[in-house]
Amino acid sequence: MIKAAVMGYGTIGSGVAEVLEQNRDVICRRAGHEIELKYVLDLREFPDSPVADKIIHDFKIIEEDEEVRIVVETMGGLNPAYPFVKASLLAGKHVVTSNKALVAAHGTELLEIARRQGVNFLFEASVGGGIPIIRPLYRCLEGERIEEITGILNGTTNYILTKMDKEGESFENALREAQNLGYAERNPEADVEGYDTCRKIAILTAMAVGKEVNFEDIYTEGITKITDIDFKYAEKMGTSIKLFGTSRIKKDKVSAYVAPVMIGKDHPLYAVNDVFNGILVKGNMLGPAMFYGSGAGKLPTASAVVADMIEAAQNLDSHVPMGWSDEKQKVEPMEDICFRFFVRIAGSYRNKEADVKNFFGNVDVYELYGLDEFAVLTREMAEGDFRRAAAGFDTKEQARSDFGIKQMIRAVL
Ligand code: HSE
Repeated sequence: MIKAAVMGYGTIGSGVAEVLEQNRDVICRRAGHEIELKYVLDLREFPDSPVADKIIHDFKIIEEDEEVRIVVETMGGLNPAYPFVKASLLAGKHVVTSNKALVAAHGTELLEIARRQGVNFLFEASVGGGIPIIRPLYRCLEGERIEEITGILNGTTNYILTKMDKEGESFENALREAQNLGYAERNPEADVEGYDTCRKIAILTAMAVGKEVNFEDIYTEGITKITDIDFKYAEKMGTSIKLFGTSRIKKDKVSAYVAPVMIGKDHPLYAVNDVFNGILVKGNMLGPAMFYGSGAGKLPTASAVVADMIEAAQNLDSHVPMGWSDEKQKVEPMEDICFRFFVRIAGSYRNKEADVKNFFGNVDVYELYGLDEFAVLTREMAEGDFRRAAAGFDTKEQARSDFGIKQMIRAVL
């Protein structure tokens, strides 16, 4: 029998208790031991819950109890998750976490402590909710050079964008629904501004290159500026708009970004809707592989946590090599990454054709009935070149008439 403790009895923590209970027999068979929850650490009481008699409020009880071999952190945030996780590893306990903010900010140090202590620091649930992606990267794809990882990595924003796209739902209503369903972060800014996706793509990139990736080096733009009009153009163009976290790895060079991207029906991630996440991984031998499933939510995410608990139980006295070193990976500037650009411009194309062509070159033009604007889709160009062209166009427009560019969305078409 292995004793475990869960820190944080929120959506995921309570899901972990439920999965351990419901799947007790298969977990025992696969782990080689029964896994019993000894403590649940939370500030609150849960008198009517199945773990009412396990609730504690003092982390020291977990830290000092030698019987506890596996500590699960599902509190979220950095404080007190970071000091508690660090202390647990230093006390020789295995730690399993679903906390991407913690892994992205302190993963390098925590992995190093786990190595030194001969224990495991596992974080499958930190990326992609219930989708297996971390373990495939350090196990199944070990023989590959990873060339690209592109993911829809945030369930909340994918839910919002899908509702806006398919049902014409407003941003605010769709966000409220995602919160009610337990998908959103405590502060949903982390979802809608792309910060959550940024941490997840930083973790995946670090796994792929074996070096530390500073999430602050990754250009990050959320979905708050995407409107119903953008989706009307998208419909006319046979495209959709998804929040991507992408990294491309060429020899030692890594380019990475988080941004809403317009994609066509033939893109492998086009059909990833609602709370689902999809992760496209390209290996130099394998080619493309897709990982798809529930990217957020109680039981799917808890299932990934429990899988890590089983891995820890199977390796109680050994450290499983995984993760990355403290060597720093440089991330190339966003200006050098090439896209096509979808641009909405005030006024009529007829009056502005010459300037559009002058600044952006050959473009495809789209117009929607009843709007005093038009949209163009540029050829592929580097982001830096686009920005210079857009600034030149806007300066000319401002001097001449109305303000020029109303919206820009990168396109992978
Ligand atoms: N808020 C996150 C999401 C939870 O919506 O994807 C899972 O990491």
